[in-house]
Amino acid sequence: MCGISGYIGHRDAIDIAITILQGQEYRGYDSAGLAAIVDGKLCKKKEVGKVAVLKESLELEKWQSQISIAHTRWATHGKPSLANAHPHHDHTHQCLLVHNGIIENYEVLQKELISLGISFNSQTDTEVISQLVGVCYQGNLLEAVQKAVSRLEGAFAIAVMHAAHPDEIILATKESPLCVGRGQQEMFIASDPGAFVRYTRGVVYLHSCELARVTKQGLEVFCTQLKPKQKTIQTLGLEASDVSKGQYPHYMLKEIYEQERSVKHAMLSHCDDAQGSALFEELDLDHLNIERSIILACGTSYHAGLVAAQMLEEWTRLPVRVEVASEFRYRPSIVEPNTLVIAISQSGETADTLAALRALKHKCCYSIGLCNVQNSTLTREVDASVFLRAGPEIGVASTKAFTSQLVLLSLFALKLARLRGMSVQEGQSILRDIQGLPEQVKQVLLQRSHIQDIAKRYACYHNFFYLGRRYMFPAALEGALKLKEIAYINANGYAAGEMKHGPIALIHPDCPTVACMQDLVTLPKMMSNLSEVKARDGKIIAIISEGMKVELADDVIYIPQVRDELAPILTTVATQLLAYEIASLKGCEIDQPRNLAKSVTVE
Ligand code: M6R
Repeated sequence: MCGISGYIGHRDAIDIAITILQGQEYRGYDSAGLAAIVDGKLCKKKEVGKVAVLKESLELEKWQSQISIAHTRWATHGKPSLANAHPHHDHTHQCLLVHNGIIENYEVLQKELISLGISFNSQTDTEVISQLVGVCYQGNLLEAVQKAVSRLEGAFAIAVMHAAHPDEIILATKESPLCVGRGQQEMFIASDPGAFVRYTRGVVYLHSCELARVTKQGLEVFCTQLKPKQKTIQTLGLEASDVSKGQYPHYMLKEIYEQERSVKHAMLSHCDDAQGSALFEELDLDHLNIERSIILACGTSYHAGLVAAQMLEEWTRLPVRVEVASEFRYRPSIVEPNTLVIAISQSGETADTLAALRALKHKCCYSIGLCNVQNSTLTREVDASVFLRAGPEIGVASTKAFTSQLVLLSLFALKLARLRGMSVQEGQSILRDIQGLPEQVKQVLLQRSHIQDIAKRYACYHNFFYLGRRYMFPAALEGALKLKEIAYINANGYAAGEMKHGPIALIHPDCPTVACMQDLVTLPKMMSNLSEVKARDGKIIAIISEGMKVELADDVIYIPQVRDELAPILTTVATQLLAYEIASLKGCEIDQPRNLAKSVTVE
């Protein structure tokens, strides 16, 4: 939610800050703005809409600068407008800042500032920070920022510039990501380091409650009392090609196609063929007496949690609860002894998942983060992390992260199952099926042109059902979510058995059903549910294993046979393609769907 970029050095700061911003546009795209020191003067430019609009209007200005900060916004307080776009200035207009996060006590602070005679120009919570910095400023920008942020409640990552300090950018963070890339006599600032990998691979991550002074010579990091802190420079394990679209028209399509590889990467070094088990050297499970588990997640990651819970219960017989983090955080967190907490988050920055984790952290016996982003907040707060190694996921709709989550969760369930008495032979058989997934994902991807044809017949509908049972229920939820978010079509993911308790009233010829039918245990029941749909003239697109017959369906997508527990991976690749093709036919903004942002760092 909101992306911050910045540059200080000897090159064209405006061009670089904009390029870094474009690499983070998935974080929000309601408006964009930039500040720079041009001919000794602090200048700013803002535009409503995408970074490309800002870039175009900056090109007309022909500004030359070696220091700049910029911002792409996902609106929280105040609609997308010029006034609400960042950067925001203080009352003297000498200080400008950009912000990612939410200031919870902004109304109190705003009243206080108004009583001092300060007037506000926007409806944002951010403006209280710039005004506070202005009020606190007495010649030392770092000290002014430190005083200002000490008054803030909530989450923030800010980058601040001042006309009287043309050689420094001040940063401050609390529970929002920000990092600095080191070059030769130049420094790069971003919310996500992938955005500056084309310039440098040396990165320093700022942690919560740290401040930093960035100059072209280097970076000084401080704690909240301004005591200097030592930080290590880490090397980004990314290439510039990992964050480009390559030959694909959209990141989402690229990421769908990457799944053959990302699923393989997810299992690398985790397979123990001889023992029919999984290896997780990063976890310290042996001394634990796990009696139950709670899984916390949001959105697509929650759907992965639903699959994992069934698998864990079946293979290990441990009771498992899966909780939507945004709801769980407001319930009494009743935790029985020996509870293992698993927090699933692609980004590792989802505010609700982090809040739910914090509520449980000191009550559980062990917490594990399943995450794609190294050094994200989640990975710093759990006892141990398991990484997806899926590579950067840039399309707002989560695709490859989901399938990698499922691979790792199945390996983790296998590990626990073997520790709890599953036989070597059964373990080996499951492991063989997991290892067969990359080839099977490839087979599903080969169905693209068939799925394209189906999409052409169904892109005109405004309402869909996605139905499934048992392992196919989360797959149905995930398929429906993809269609909603990228094609803006109302799609209801439902447990097929629940239809007759109400939703079947909506079935009619203009409301097609995508039937997720890869769960063998419930296939006969699913067939009956579909007869009920057909009896009401509903159209059916069935996704089913090769070799199965489904005469009721109007269209069928056949995918390779696999054990029920792993089937959501293959079914989901098919529903991702279906949503993508429908969205593409409708001309939707696939990588940046309206109202969304990739990493949801606010409640
Ligand atoms: O980064 P996280 O996995 O914690 O994100 C959770 C959700 O915000 C995310 O899965 C969201 O639902 C995606 N847009 C789904 O495609």
